[in-house]
Amino acid sequence: MFAADLLKGKVILITGGGTGLGRAMGEKFLQLGAHIAITSRREEVLATTAKEMMAAHGGKVFHTPCDIRDPEAVEAMIDRVWEHFGGIDVLVNNAAGNFSAPTERLSHRAVDAVLNIVLHGTFYCTLALGKKWIAAKHPGRVLSVVATYAESGSAFVVPSAAGKAGVLAMTRSLAVEWARYGITMNAVAPGPFPTPGAWDRLLPDPALAQHAIDRIPLRRVGEKEELANLCAFLVADGSQYINGECIAIDGGEWLKGSGQFSWMDVLTPEQWDALTAQGKKAGK
Ligand code: HXC
Repeated sequence: MFAADLLKGKVILITGGGTGLGRAMGEKFLQLGAHIAITSRREEVLATTAKEMMAAHGGKVFHTPCDIRDPEAVEAMIDRVWEHFGGIDVLVNNAAGNFSAPTERLSHRAVDAVLNIVLHGTFYCTLALGKKWIAAKHPGRVLSVVATYAESGSAFVVPSAAGKAGVLAMTRSLAVEWARYGITMNAVAPGPFPTPGAWDRLLPDPALAQHAIDRIPLRRVGEKEELANLCAFLVADGSQYINGECIAIDGGEWLKGSGQFSWMDVLTPEQWDALTAQGKKAGK
């Protein structure tokens, strides 16, 4: 889909880059010539991933652990990556935490467990790197992974919805505020991309997972490669003028959910025949 050197020489830092979607993005960026830094809480996972990625694609993968809930640890992590590569061009805010539950069952600690990662952690990373970019007069690009429910909200994942909505507000606000420093901000809103980290927590029952797939107009989940392609496009130089946008990649899932009559896809052709006849009669 892309020229092989699309991201040549770019330094891209990915939070939550050791597994799942973060890893898939890293692999794609690496294939396209970027240098990658991956961070997450688990050093061993990062070390294995970095080794495997370099063996598969060549290029440079720097790994360094960080709990993004700790603002001082975030600043130190960003310093390490900056020092290692002599700068950072792109931040991908991918790390997240989530579980599905009726909200009235949540303790305040459960709310914090999600918000501290999704909202605070993402903000800390963006703020720490933004300050460095501004001080160094270095342009920068931030790509944050949100969810389609950042716009609409969603029952049963309310801390995540509140956190992702906050990240989207931060994205749009800073797209305006920091443009004068050459820093641009965008978001992607993936629909269902099954990874063990997310789906084992959110939809542990296969029947429920199938229900989630049945409501997608394309009748399939996303391929990690498809999300990685969108992210590669959005961090490439040719898309610099895109600023403050959030692009959904979900097979049409959220549009279907918001369409007032979308539920009618359960009707058979015969039911439609009868309904149409009734409607015409009523119209007369
Ligand atoms: C209700 C729960 C719970 C659950 C934890 N808690 N899991 N409450 N239902 N399923 C409560 C605990 O009882 C506790 O409250 C509090 O939350 C903190 O629990 P801990 O286990 O100590 O939290 P922590 O170690 O911080 O880990 C929680 C977590 C964890 C952050 C959510 O799962 C995690 O680290 N996840 C990272 C990976 C991840 O979730 N990836 C998915 C991202 S998907 P009490 O009161 O008992 O002390 C995503 C978007 C998906 O973001 C888009 C849709 C397709």
